[in-house]
Amino acid sequence: MDKNFYITTPIYYPSAKPHMGHAYSSIIADFFARLKKIDGYKVHFLTGTDEHGLKIQRSAEKQKIEPLEFCNQISLTFRNLSKILNLSNTDFIRTTENRHKVSVQYLWNELIKNDEIYLSKYSGWYSVSDEAYYNDDEIVDHDGKKISKLSKSIVEWIEEESYFFRLSKWQKPLLDYYLSHPNFISPLSRKKEVISFVESGLKDLSISRKSFSWGIPVPNSKDHIIYVWLDALTNYISALNYPDVNDSLFKNFWPASLHLIGKDIIRFHAVYWPAFLMAAKINLPLKIYGHGWILSDNEKMSKSKGNILDPIEIIKEYGVDPLRYYLIKEVSFGNDGNISQERLENCINSDLANNFGNLCQRVTTFAISNCNSRVPENISLSTEDLTILNKFKNDLNNIRSKIDEQDINYYINYIVNALFQANKYFNDQEPWKKKNDLIRLNSIVYTTLEIVRKISFMLYPIIPNSALKALKIFNLNEKDIIFSTIENYNYLKKGSNINKIDILFKRVEKNND
Ligand code: MSP
Repeated sequence: MDKNFYITTPIYYPSAKPHMGHAYSSIIADFFARLKKIDGYKVHFLTGTDEHGLKIQRSAEKQKIEPLEFCNQISLTFRNLSKILNLSNTDFIRTTENRHKVSVQYLWNELIKNDEIYLSKYSGWYSVSDEAYYNDDEIVDHDGKKISKLSKSIVEWIEEESYFFRLSKWQKPLLDYYLSHPNFISPLSRKKEVISFVESGLKDLSISRKSFSWGIPVPNSKDHIIYVWLDALTNYISALNYPDVNDSLFKNFWPASLHLIGKDIIRFHAVYWPAFLMAAKINLPLKIYGHGWILSDNEKMSKSKGNILDPIEIIKEYGVDPLRYYLIKEVSFGNDGNISQERLENCINSDLANNFGNLCQRVTTFAISNCNSRVPENISLSTEDLTILNKFKNDLNNIRSKIDEQDINYYINYIVNALFQANKYFNDQEPWKKKNDLIRLNSIVYTTLEIVRKISFMLYPIIPNSALKALKIFNLNEKDIIFSTIENYNYLKKGSNINKIDILFKRVEKNND
């Protein structure tokens, strides 16, 4: 049977330039996509931009350009960012594309057909920044303004005719679903939050707007456009050519394996989206993971707070792999994490340059001068060698199941530990003192090279370019990276060439160094 894996990032609002929070969601999704790919899955990895709604319309108006022209410009910066971040996405969707519009209108008609929509009047609070409706009890006064307790964004009062989705009727089915699918929402804190929100009672949801025009028209209605979240969420299936359910993309990849999102948009994904899907009789995604926020000075980064760290500037200064490594290692996955340039520099120096880079250089330089630039042939592995080599084999299935639980922290700690053990092994075995016992010297070199190979395979989803550079030692390319082979202790071809490689990571010189 084919093993398929469909992963999505949130589609980003092109209301302003991308920031580190956007880069974070994308990098994490890329980590899973690459890992599943090297583990034999057919992977579909979707990202894109969410281009309709009042927030975008107002941003365009401020710049005095047409919304589509505005979106064309900023969507391009997101597309470029996905290249700069070295994402392996297989598609990039824009909600202004026709393929998406057709799909959203079809879904609307399905909901109409199933009697899930009715016309009424909405009066209540709306946050343009979140594109979200809030109940009275979710609003507080702040500096004379009304803001959402949850997101702290300003809300405005709206009253207008609107189509409603019968969300209230899905309260019980949703709660039953959460109960019968305990892994549907992760991590646990988010799941609890969602369940308590649904338990507190669901009101029918306004799903159209009338007072502005930047959106997908409601079918058969002159003056309504579809609520931007119903529009946006549908991207996950419009990109698979829904409603053509016999299309190979839809057949192979729906339901999605994982919708990766930030915790700020969990309600839309874990309440509204499954309710829309149930109402349209479409299968639900397998999992929704709400990761934490990247904080700068302990606050969520946002344009309005003026505390944005620009991923492109950071990459210009340090390179993309150090940023990827840093975000994956230092932000404990699932929680919020503060980022700082100082910690990024420490990460580069200690983990990347000292632990990984150095190990690669030391063992290759040694093999080049002492083993005739070849993977040693004449070896006899000791119990110690076999213990360190077989550890990967014993742990492989555990690593896989941790990945399926999105336990990235386990994965990265496993690598850090393996690097520490490998460096320690090479130091303790002192191959440079074994020049009179060539079989022993060869065995140590062989073992260390084999571990460099395994660790490089494991690092590939995190730092793809650097892992590929390291694998040049063995003339291995991207297509050779097969995750299951980390369990082999005799993967490297004895007698094959060992190549000298360039320095993998430059140490960052600090003023106090
Ligand atoms: N357009 C909606 C998503 C629609 S998905 C059908 C949206 N866009 S957004 O551009 O505002 O943010 C998208 C995502 O970026 C957030 O959910 C989150 O994943 C990520 N982040 C934005 N700021 C963030 C941080 N400061 N930290 C971490 N990620 C955050 O919401």
